[in-house]
Amino acid sequence: MNSILITGAGSGIGAAVAQRLSQRAGIRILLLGRQLAALEKVRTAMHRPEDHAALSVDVSDSRALVAALQSEKVGLDKHPLTGVFANAGIGGGNQWGEGDRWEEIIRVNLTGTYNTLMASRPFLNRSEGVKQVLVTSSVLARFGVPGQSAYVTSKTGLLGLVRSLAVEWSPQGIMVNALCPGWVDTEMARNSIQSMADAQDLSFDECKAQQEAILPSLRMTTPAEMAQWVDFIFSGLGEGEAVPRLATFTGQALDVNSGSWMG
Ligand SMILES: NC(=O)c1ccc[n+]([C@@H]2O[C@H](COP(=O)([O-])OP(=O)(O)OC[C@H]3O[C@@H](n4cnc5c(N)ncnc54)[C@H](OP(=O)(O)O)[C@@H]3O)[C@@H](O)[C@H]2O)c1
Repeated sequence: MNSILITGAGSGIGAAVAQRLSQRAGIRILLLGRQLAALEKVRTAMHRPEDHAALSVDVSDSRALVAALQSEKVGLDKHPLTGVFANAGIGGGNQWGEGDRWEEIIRVNLTGTYNTLMASRPFLNRSEGVKQVLVTSSVLARFGVPGQSAYVTSKTGLLGLVRSLAVEWSPQGIMVNALCPGWVDTEMARNSIQSMADAQDLSFDECKAQQEAILPSLRMTTPAEMAQWVDFIFSGLGEGEAVPRLATFTGQALDVNSGSWMG
């Protein structure tokens, strides 16, 4: 079996991707996040749960990441790493002054993704054929919103990381791309909507309806729909899969955003 690493796999988009990819034979998923109980819950609900492994690691801790990927439990020497979905992230606002979350958000979203990709690279290099790296950026890499300068900066910075590594790594067969979701119906989105609702003295449902009404597709994307896109980018990565791997799509951002931003 070939391995695919998913960070932020304990909930939301990452959990839906893990669930979807586990339906394909020849793929072993490494579910990574901080809360082991959440990862184990996702793992046990997947197809062939015994084939997959849950790893409790903070992506902002580069040493812990390297140690985890080298561990015997992970077994990347026996199960080549062919895909990385670097998806872990935190949301919310930041404000200059005491309690500013700038450093925390940059450390997890931007540096944590860099750590994930760099720690994975030696293992990707050892695998045969085309490999895929997909980073979860955001539609907020496309436009700014008030009160979220750290989040917007972190997700915009990821596009720079993707372009740079695509140029460096694609000649060795490692495609590097970004996924830029708009609203996806997860806990993170629900927390953002609740904050917006509180600020405008609206109920959660009123605020959600207001947000969805301005989307050309009139609704948020579901985590399962996001997983369909990741499944496509990761075509052919499982051991023995007959589908060809995508070998010329690199350095790009895939905007799945209900039409909220059109490039
Ligand atoms: N939902 C949206 O509307 C939306 C839109 C655009 C982009 N995104 C992006 O999509 C990605 C997934 O978010 P989601 O919506 O699925 O929200 P979510 O359910 O909150 O998922 C985020 C995941 O990241 C993990 N995580 C957070 N900090 C971590 C750290 N330091 N180390 C390891 N894992 C960490 C969390 O697990 P632990 O707490 O257990 O570590 C959690 O499972 C994020 O990068 C987010 O910015 C979401």
